[in-house]
Amino acid sequence: MSSPKRQKTQESKETTDWFQGRHIISVKDFDPAKLARLFSVCTKMKNIVNGEGSCDILKGKILCTLFYEPSTRTHMSFQAAMYKLGGQVLAMSDVKNSSVAKGETLADTVRSLECYSDVMVMRHPQIGSAKKAASFLKIPLINGGDGAGEHPSQALLDAYTIYDEFGKIDGLTITIVGDLKYGRTVHSLVQILKHYKVKLNFVSPDFLKMPEDIQNDLKNAKLQQTNTTDLSSVIKETDVLYVTRVQKERFEDENEYKKAAGSYVVSVDFLEKNNAKKDMIIMHPLPRVDEISTDVDDDPRAAYFREMRNGMITRMALLALVLGRADA
Ligand code: NCD
Repeated sequence: MSSPKRQKTQESKETTDWFQGRHIISVKDFDPAKLARLFSVCTKMKNIVNGEGSCDILKGKILCTLFYEPSTRTHMSFQAAMYKLGGQVLAMSDVKNSSVAKGETLADTVRSLECYSDVMVMRHPQIGSAKKAASFLKIPLINGGDGAGEHPSQALLDAYTIYDEFGKIDGLTITIVGDLKYGRTVHSLVQILKHYKVKLNFVSPDFLKMPEDIQNDLKNAKLQQTNTTDLSSVIKETDVLYVTRVQKERFEDENEYKKAAGSYVVSVDFLEKNNAKKDMIIMHPLPRVDEISTDVDDDPRAAYFREMRNGMITRMALLALVLGRADA
């Protein structure tokens, strides 16, 4: 029988091997051991950024980015992450200037870009597009958002932020508010949170509820979850308030969007009136429209800019892991 130490080393080698060369398409592929491995590499990356500032473990490697939809944080932080690790970037932030405008297929576009790069990040408006693109590729593809489907790197950085802020995820009450129907970041985030002992409160207008199949997954994982339209009814018990934007671009009917816009606004006054905990945190993947009033920005509970910084850190960890250089 192998010793516990040898078994641990074996498990950590298997987890390391699991990341190398892997497409990051869905958080459903992650289990607690993979998450723990990612968080430990994130901590290593944070130390590099806060210490030397950068390193050269990805020297000679090229990241190609392919964005069919607008992006500020995902696109910029992946690029910054690659530079911080000593690698280089070929960025396509507007496919209108590429052969996509001439009608080139997704398959041909990604197979061409693969010839110039070692790893790719793609954002695309269609659910399932990342899985489809990955089926044509030998280099790892990271899903930077596929329509209203998933946004794994955002959810991983969100989970890391919760872990980083509280030193744990177990035992927390996490309230997710806004557009839970179309918000891909929260679709991915709850699939990560189901591995921990958390209570989830879903707050949204009735027509923007968390999709039923996801709620059923959480039920099967025996997670405590509630649904309400009233944010003030759950704010007092909340440790993490995760706020989302109403996803205007996903609505077919403009009137439906108008019905939802402005449903929830978190302000300092709202937090005070509803006895929000002094040590809770407020997160948002950004961009915000009006869901969090700017007076919250100076409150120590506003974690969204720390969350963005963790975006670069987590993406450094992901790039190093899929390229097999996290232990270099
Ligand atoms: C999110 C997205 O694109 O899904 N943004 C991001 O990547 N930080 C959230 C949003 O657009 O509302």
